[in-house]
Amino acid sequence: MSASMTPPVSSELTASSGPRYAKLLSVGGYRGSRVVDNAEMCTMIESTDEWIQQRTGIVERRWATEEETPLLMSVEAARKALDRAGLTAADIDLVICSTVSNFKQTPALACEVAKELGCPDPAAFDISAACAGFCYGITMAEGVVRSGAARNVLVIGVETLSRLTDINDRSTAFLFSDGAGATIVGASDVPAIGPTVWGSDPEEVGVIHVDDWKEAMDQGETPYIHMEGSKVFRWATTFIARKSAEAIKLAGLTPEQLDAFIPHQANNRITDSMLRQLKLPESVVVARDITHMGNSSAASIPLAMEALLESGEVTSGQNALIIGFGAGLVYAGQVLKLP
Ligand SMILES: CC(C)(COP(=O)(O)OP(=O)(O)OC[C@H]1O[C@@H](n2cnc3c(N)ncnc32)[C@H](O)[C@@H]1OP(=O)(O)O)[C@@H](O)C(=O)NCCC(=O)NCCS
Repeated sequence: MSASMTPPVSSELTASSGPRYAKLLSVGGYRGSRVVDNAEMCTMIESTDEWIQQRTGIVERRWATEEETPLLMSVEAARKALDRAGLTAADIDLVICSTVSNFKQTPALACEVAKELGCPDPAAFDISAACAGFCYGITMAEGVVRSGAARNVLVIGVETLSRLTDINDRSTAFLFSDGAGATIVGASDVPAIGPTVWGSDPEEVGVIHVDDWKEAMDQGETPYIHMEGSKVFRWATTFIARKSAEAIKLAGLTPEQLDAFIPHQANNRITDSMLRQLKLPESVVVARDITHMGNSSAASIPLAMEALLESGEVTSGQNALIIGFGAGLVYAGQVLKLP
């Protein structure tokens, strides 16, 4: 361009804009139907009911049957969430599925869920953030709703971890389970989802991992989960406890103003340790869904939330702290109003 030429003034474009706040409209869940109690577990690994209960709080876990695929469980959970929100599939503009155990990589599980539900033209994609996946999904959905890019976002955490678990590995077999939890995030007139704390620890990238799929299959083997349990335990009870306190503070609340604590259901001893450090009052309802469910990774928080709402221990509009943490090591959490 010669010096004498002045560049044309570009026209202003329209940026997206949306409602000021977002909230959870509803939650729905689906649990694998096969109940595997500790006695049955101890036929697969050298352990005892007493050891498992004392170290984790788990009495029994739920595994999916062959028919209970990630798609089936997601759709069942989503239908419940849609009904409870009084919405139809046509009201959903975005579907996000968080999973690390859907064996089909593409199309995204979210696209298949959208098809089954009959959403006409939704954006749809999957995320992989392990046991923090549900809270990652909430963070993204909240931003998308507030940007105006979607009216209602269906966020699903779904896992069939039993299919990635070596049932003879006594360091992991007793922990994991299968299920789906769905929630719908839509517009709100008042603040209802607090600021997120999230991040990851690159130094601990391999602490929980699944075998390389190609390498395992080339050897005719199934890829399995491996975990350095005590490292995860220490990280959760120190760093994640501090991040939980930060989430309460960022939401402008004190521990006394929380009504419920719904951490990722990894281990009741981790939850107990967090409770002590957060100094939560006795009045705070604490999710212990792991006792009869096991650790269902991305599904664990919405399933625990649904159970507390169904039992009447908590009610819609109360303040709950949710925080997920897992393979990566990744974490995310926020305080929100229960749907
Ligand atoms: C997995 C976990 C329950 C193991 O508990 P732990 O107290 O750390 O157990 P350790 O691995 O230190 O082993 C302690 C003892 O129990 C034994 N043990 C391990 N697994 C056992 C089992 N299934 N049954 C009986 N004994 C077992 C060990 O051999 C060891 O025995 P020793 O003291 O004689 O050497 C615990 O580390 C944990 O929950 N970590 C967090 C895992 C997690 O949350 N992962 C998912 C994050 S998303």
